[in-house]
Parts: sequence; C-alpha cells; structure tokens
Amino acid sequence: MSAHPEILVCGAGPSGLVMALALLRNGASVRLIDREPTSRLGQRGAGIMPRSLELFHALGISQDIIEKSIPAPKAVVYQMPEGTQPLSKFDMWPPVEATAKYPFPNVIMLGQDHLEQVLRTALREVGCEVEWGTTLVSFEQSPSSVRTVLSRPHNGPNGEHIQINETSTFRYLIGTDGARGVVRKALGLSFLGETSNAHNLVVGDVMVHGLDPKLWHMWGQFENNWLSLRPTEVPYMFSFLLSGPEIDHTTIVQRPELLKPIFVEYTGRRKDIVFGDVVWLSTYRPNIRMVNKFSSGRVFVAGDSAHIHSVTGGQGMNVGIQDSFNLAWKLALVTRNLAPESLLDTYNEERTPVVAAMLNQITALLQETRTEKNQAVDVRTRRTAISAWKYNGGVLQLGVNCRWSSIVLDEQSPDETDLDDDEFADFGDDFPFEEEEENEDEFSSANDAYLERPLGAGDRAPDAPGLVIHKHPASTKPISRLFDVLSDSKHSLLIFNDNPNRCSSAMRLLGSFPRDAVQAVIVLRPQAQLSPEVSAVADWVIEDHNGHAYSAYSLREDCDIVVVRPDGLIGAILRSGKGLLRYFDAVFKRPSL
Ligand SMILES: Cc1cc2nc3c(=O)[nH]c(=O)nc-3n(C[C@H](O)[C@H](O)[C@H](O)COP(=O)(O)OP(=O)(O)OC[C@H]3O[C@@H](n4cnc5c(N)ncnc54)[C@H](O)[C@@H]3O)c2cc1C
Ligand SMILES: *[C@@H]1O[C@H](CO)[C@@H](O)[C@H](O)[C@H]1NC(C)=O
Repeated sequence: MSAHPEILVCGAGPSGLVMALALLRNGASVRLIDREPTSRLGQRGAGIMPRSLELFHALGISQDIIEKSIPAPKAVVYQMPEGTQPLSKFDMWPPVEATAKYPFPNVIMLGQDHLEQVLRTALREVGCEVEWGTTLVSFEQSPSSVRTVLSRPHNGPNGEHIQINETSTFRYLIGTDGARGVVRKALGLSFLGETSNAHNLVVGDVMVHGLDPKLWHMWGQFENNWLSLRPTEVPYMFSFLLSGPEIDHTTIVQRPELLKPIFVEYTGRRKDIVFGDVVWLSTYRPNIRMVNKFSSGRVFVAGDSAHIHSVTGGQGMNVGIQDSFNLAWKLALVTRNLAPESLLDTYNEERTPVVAAMLNQITALLQETRTEKNQAVDVRTRRTAISAWKYNGGVLQLGVNCRWSSIVLDEQSPDETDLDDDEFADFGDDFPFEEEEENEDEFSSANDAYLERPLGAGDRAPDAPGLVIHKHPASTKPISRLFDVLSDSKHSLLIFNDNPNRCSSAMRLLGSFPRDAVQAVIVLRPQAQLSPEVSAVADWVIEDHNGHAYSAYSLREDCDIVVVRPDGLIGAILRSGKGLLRYFDAVFKRPSL
C-alpha cells in the first residue's frame, strides 16, 4: 500500500469492509477506519442473499462463508397461548436447486460478526487492517481533495493510551458509517422516507436449550407481543427479535436479565425451554429511508448511511454490499487515472432507482425531484424505477440491474431499456409500490419477471459451468465455470465467435485501452477450432463444452461480443467494433501515447 492512501473509507461494517476489499483488489490505495475500539458482536443482518454470495464468490471468499454458515431454517408459528402446537410452518425463502445460470440460488445465514471476520481476513491478505478506535470528526472538501480530522489512538510519552487529532488529506472520502453516520449529515443529503409506527424492537442473541435448532420459531403477532427465535451457526445460540407494547427498551438494554421472564411469558413455554445468557442485545427502530443522492463532490455514501430498511426484510446489509461493489471499481479506475471522473456519476445513477424500488420509496424520491422542478429527471426516475422494481428479482436480488445506465450499451435490443408507454401509463400518478401488500400476486410475479426476459446490457452476467479451458493466464487454478473466468478487477470481453478475423479485429480495438484493466476471453462452441494466431493474443480461450454459456447468453446471430464489468453486470452487448469503442470510451481514458 502506498504511504499516502488516496481513499478514506469511514466505517468498517459490511459495506466498508467490502468497499475497501474491492477497492484494493482493483488497485486503489485505501485507509479503513472505525470508531469502535474493536470489532462488534452480534448476528444483526445475518441473511446472505444469493446475489451477495455471488459477489463474495468474485472476491474469492464464498467457500469460506458457505462453510461457516447454515441454510435458512424453516419457520414455525405456534398456536397461542400454549405456544407448543405449530399453527403453520413455512419457508421464508423456499430452497431451490442450483442451475447452470444460478449456482448460489439459496439464502444462507451467517452472523454479521462472523461475516465481518471473513472479510477482515481477506482484507489482511491484501495488506489492509481496520484502524480501530479512529473516528472521523469532521471533513471539508475542495475541488481537488478532502481534508479530514481523525481522532485516533496514540501512545503518550509514558506509553499511556491517548487520543490525538490527525489532519489528513485524501482524494476521496467514502462514508460507510451506518444509519447514524456523520458523512451523510455533513454533506446535507436528505434522508427521505418514514419511521414506522410499529413498536421498537429489541434484537439480540441468546443461549437457549430445549428448542429444535433446525427451526425458526415464532410466537404471537407482530402488532402485539411477538417473539422470533432464529437458530444460528453457533450451537444453542438463537438470534431474537422481540416486540411488544409494554416493553421498556431503555431498561432492558441496561438489564438484559429482565428478558428471561419476558421470553417465558411470550412463548408460554415454562417447562421445556431453558433460556440462558443474553450474548448481545440492542434496540432497533424500524425506519425506511434513503438519501436523495449517493454522493456530493468527492464524497460518497454507501450502505446503511445511504439507506435504511425494515429489519424484517433482511435486505439491509445485502444492498450495502452491492453499493460498494458498484462504486469500488469505478473509483479505483479514476484514482489510477484510467477513467474519467464522469464515470463516478454513474454510481448514483445506477443505485438510486434500485434502492428506491427496494424500499418502496419511489414516491418520496419523486416528490424530491419534483420540488427541484426538474421534469426530465422526474420522468426518467419514474421509468427507471419501474424497471428496477419489476426486474429487481425481489429479495434474492438476482434481477438487480442497471439497464437505464448512461454507460451501458445494448446493440442487440436497444429499445428494451425503455418500457413501452402503455405499461408506463398504467401506473398513472400512483405507483404500485404502496400496494405491495394488497397485491401480493402481482408483486411476486414482478419479482420473478427478470427470469423471463431476454438478457440485456445492465443485467447480471449469468454463470456457465462445464467449460474446458484451452488457454488461461498464468497462475490460474484449475477452473471450469464462467464465474471463475470473470474478474472482479477487470472488464471481461467475451467473444462468442471463433472466426479469426472477427477475433483479431476485436483484439486490435482493445489495444487502445488500458490493457491491465481488460481481459479478452474467446468462447468457443463445443469442438470448435481456433487459429493459433488469435489464441496467442487472447488472455483466455474457453470451450463451452456443454453449451451452457451460449445458451445463457443466447445472443442473436449478429451479436457476438459481451462486455462484463468488474461488478458482474453486463456493460455491453455488441455487434460492431464501433460499439466496442463507444462502450470503452465512456468507461476508460485512452492511454496517452
Ligand atoms: C441493532 C441492529 C440490529 C440489526 N438487525 C438486523 C437484522 O436482524 N436483519 C437485517 O437484515 N439487518 C439488521 N440490521 C441491519 C444491518 O446490520 C445493517 O444493514 C448493516 O450492518 C449495514 O452495514 P453498513 O456497513 O452499511 O453499516 P454498519 O454496519 O452500521 O457499520 C457502520 C460502521 O461505521 C462506524 N462509524 C460510524 N461513525 C463513524 C465515524 N464518525 N468514524 C469512524 N467510524 C464510524 C461504526 O462504528 C460502524 O462499525 C441491524 C442493525 C442494527 C444496528
Ligand atoms: C480534536 O478535535 C475536536 C473537534 O475539533 C475537539 O473537540 C477536540 O478537543 C480535539 N482533541 C484534541 C486532543 O485536540
């Protein structure tokens, strides 16, 4: 790492850890601070969504995470007041089989503290340690830099521990400092949305004996006395959510032992369940809010500091990880002087509609854009928000896309990005998001809509197993799936063609862009021959032995080039060399000769 890191990441929760890791893997220099004296305890946001797992795979840590985690347990709701007979059993996220395109289709559970540990280990491997006990006190930005004041630990003259103020300068600052973070507030970003009227929750982890560890147990009704006990990867430890009109949150946080009788009362199970120590607890106020924009000048926000979610949706941490993945490669390219600063605007452009749709906060966002009297933004936001809503893939987040982004380029189905006007008109002034509950069917079918529509630029790049690798870069381990060919630190140019002329002209065009930020991959049909000259200039030559890649990408005859970005989204689907130049010109600076 260089002596003066160019980027300060403030906050080492999941968003900040992924941000720092992805930045470093993309060649940026980073400092990562957190005001806590040491890492935090607690399960918190333990549900890891399939899309997050795919991103963890790209970071090389999916195996470790899967091994430490448990599958999402089946939920059981008990009949009251006895609290012993199941009223209903259901899967929160019904398990499904992996497919060629979706290798990680299931939600898994791992305590946030354990996930953060895996991330810190990966960070250490790229030479970065969290600087604990270090608080961002204030900052100010100029057109060329951000000056920060950090309060950090220091050894005094007699070896005693003192806090000192350090003034430093960075090129960029990223606030991953959580819902109550200082960065968003200092930027003056608005935090649109609502604080739910529901009771505050008490959340935490507790040791329990006598309960089936394969089931997620629930008693009571959410509006009333309600308790959820979810098994964790730690034997006998359950993660609890507790709500009730008579709960005194302030007292409970100070005296956790008061919880035991409440648990007994809420479950009605006096004999067979034994409640042990409360390992960790906190209170949680249901909030649904998001920023009006994700950056201002040289300062960005990501994760909870940019959006907070209802605790029950299990989305919070996952959306934050996607924010980080979206911004990191762009910012790394800019600090390496390989991309224009304008690339950074697309972070806001690509994330706002996705997050707004996820939070059902389109209405609030629109009110904001309206007050700015910017009709164009208004219409654009509506359209992209509808697209994000219909195709976000629901809670699994596999359909999350950015087809509307100004940098993606689709020469195969260029009009797909615009929804047809009828569909648009149907929503009139009111958006369907508010009706989510009454209209369960429509909402869930919308969540799966992405499964049916043909692949477009801006979509998630599908996986394809069963590859035979004919040529690979040095130091690659044996692999056989596309997800292991794609890179989290390079654009991948997939050429679905074995015509030597076609391949070599694409390779020639590639020559005018930063070569270490792009890899060329020739995807052959089964048993296709390739000329040695072409093979010599490509980084990879892979044979689609079982046809999964050709089938997953199902390109039209005249389109044979797919560009996959480092964040795993398709940047371009192309039929022409002109298109290739246009795409790369929007993303990269051409190296000066
Ligand atoms: C009590 C609680 C319970 C939760 N339960 C659930 C749940 O059951 N399910 C679920 O899906 N989600 C849950 N969440 C939400 C989930 O934990 C968050 O979505 C997730 O942690 C967001 O990650 P983040 O990295 O964006 O922010 P955080 O995890 O909040 O991390 C922010 C970090 O920034 C640091 N920081 C803040 N200010 C400064 C500063 N000025 N200088 C330096 N460092 C600073 C903080 O110390 C913290 O480590 C819960 C959250 C909380 C707080
Ligand atoms: C550090 O800066 C803060 C805010 O400006 C100030 O309140 C505090 O006294 C300073 N601490 C030291 C040790 O100088």
